[in-house]
Amino acid sequence: MSIAIHELTDSDRDWVESVFRKHWGGEFIVSRGKAYHVKDVKGVCAVNTKGERVGLATYYVKRNECEMVSLNAFTKAAGIGSMLVEAVKRTARVAGCSRLWLTTTNDNLDAIRFYQRRGFQLVAVHPNAIEVSRKLKPSIPEVGNFGIPLRDELEFEMRL
Ligand SMILES: CC(C)(COP(=O)(O)OP(=O)(O)OC[C@H]1O[C@@H](n2cnc3c(N)ncnc32)[C@H](O)[C@@H]1OP(=O)(O)O)[C@@H](O)C(=O)NCCC(=O)NCCS
Repeated sequence: MSIAIHELTDSDRDWVESVFRKHWGGEFIVSRGKAYHVKDVKGVCAVNTKGERVGLATYYVKRNECEMVSLNAFTKAAGIGSMLVEAVKRTARVAGCSRLWLTTTNDNLDAIRFYQRRGFQLVAVHPNAIEVSRKLKPSIPEVGNFGIPLRDELEFEMRL
């Protein structure tokens, strides 16, 4: 499968909003107590040879750090997630960032494996951080993947 990656343009915006709503439960994502609205993030999109959008990574640059706010691959284990991470890395470097970081939740075992395999290091565990997130976004469920209580944020980083 041949995949192309492009920076999001205005014509992708409605689709990005639909991805946030469908996969992240609303128009914003909360990480480290901060809400990232779909309108505030930049991103990269993966497109297959049929022109279908098959993946999305969004990010937010602040000073010399880039936070990957969301990552979705709609076909799993085909290299799409890895390509999107590489694209965000490149963009972050070009933007002069020295750190690429992200948070995921304690139930996201796939992501915990995936990020470590892609060179990220677990640099902090924020116990009960999801309680704070729920104050901003009450729709965050109590129970996550595999019936694991959705409770903590895990912070991963990569030095660029
Ligand atoms: C986490 C996530 C983004 C990974 O995306 P992905 O596209 O499946 O990732 P990749 O295909 O690049 O890599 C996954 C595995 O498939 C393998 N793979 C990649 N291309 C492959 C291919 N052509 N054939 C077989 N295996 C392949 C990789 O080696 C990798 O295994 P590894 O991690 O043990 O090295 C995806 O599972 C997802 O969207 N999850 C839901 C949303 C989510 O949780 N996002 C992260 C939250 S912060």
